[in-house]
Amino acid sequence: MLKEKVLEELRSADGFLSGQRLADQLNVSRNAVWKAVKTLQEEGYEIVSVRNLGYRLDQATRRLSHQEIVRRLPFEPRLLIFEELGSTNTYVKDHHKDLPDGTAVLARRQTMGRGRLGRSFYSPPEDGLYLSLLYKGETMPRPELVTVAAAVAAADVLISYGLSPSIKWVNDLMLGDKKAAGILTEGELELESGRMKYLVLGVGLNVNTDVFPEQLKSQAISLKQAAGRTFDINEVAAKLLCALDAQMKRLSQDDLTYRETAREIIGSYNQRLYLKGQTVTLSGGNRPDLTGVLLGTDEAGRLLIRSKEETISASYGEYRLNPQKG
Ligand code: BTN
Repeated sequence: MLKEKVLEELRSADGFLSGQRLADQLNVSRNAVWKAVKTLQEEGYEIVSVRNLGYRLDQATRRLSHQEIVRRLPFEPRLLIFEELGSTNTYVKDHHKDLPDGTAVLARRQTMGRGRLGRSFYSPPEDGLYLSLLYKGETMPRPELVTVAAAVAAADVLISYGLSPSIKWVNDLMLGDKKAAGILTEGELELESGRMKYLVLGVGLNVNTDVFPEQLKSQAISLKQAAGRTFDINEVAAKLLCALDAQMKRLSQDDLTYRETAREIIGSYNQRLYLKGQTVTLSGGNRPDLTGVLLGTDEAGRLLIRSKEETISASYGEYRLNPQKG
């Protein structure tokens, strides 16, 4: 297709390429080149067009593009990209019967991005990654550690960019003391068999956000703010899809290998646990606030806190640094 050839030429060009030169190289009219450029721009490629100079592809593409993600992946993903959705998790839940197993749904913005504990997830246009993966049937990972393994996968992606994330149990990725990403795993249990009918793994990552709303400023951070540079959102998306795919495959192994895998995943998770070894206060759930030293998590991903000579495990709640002792 012409647009792909135009894209290839622009990609290998060093700076601007004139419409005439492109037309000559590809043996088509200038008008055909112009149309191909227009289509590419509509698909999300940032192609700058300057009179008398021609076209230039802006390398730091900030707009999600199917092609730009797919070309970076070693496998052929089932990928849907929407301009806008209420929530990618809700979309996948609502359409789980019709969508093929393994489908990844991305939106350029969410109007009702959801987080854990009924919270919302700030999802401004273009600057973040809002992604949900559907698992059903054979490839379904064991649900217990999906959030934990997804956090490890997302942390690996940030590390590959030279950042130093930590994981705040159970589902947040932190850069310093601010949240860069959140994970929301949802699904439906089949009551007769006790097995999951389907599972939705949702990840939201603040990529190129410059400014957060006033009420989030002290809690949220983007990769751009942390690293001081713009990230190619398609590259980040591809890396995240790869890392999640690898971790989820590990969680769908048979019993023999699973135990060892689970141990490894929990090991990586604990190595990166936010505030590990410090005195924290855990709130939420059915118990009063609990203050103690954060030890880590057990093999099932429950949080372990040492308080008054006793080790308590928790599967629900949220912790913060204890201001008196921290
Ligand atoms: C949290 O902060 O507790 C989790 C946030 C998860 C946000 C992602 S963005 C993609 C997917 N769709 C949603 O509505 N939520 C998740």
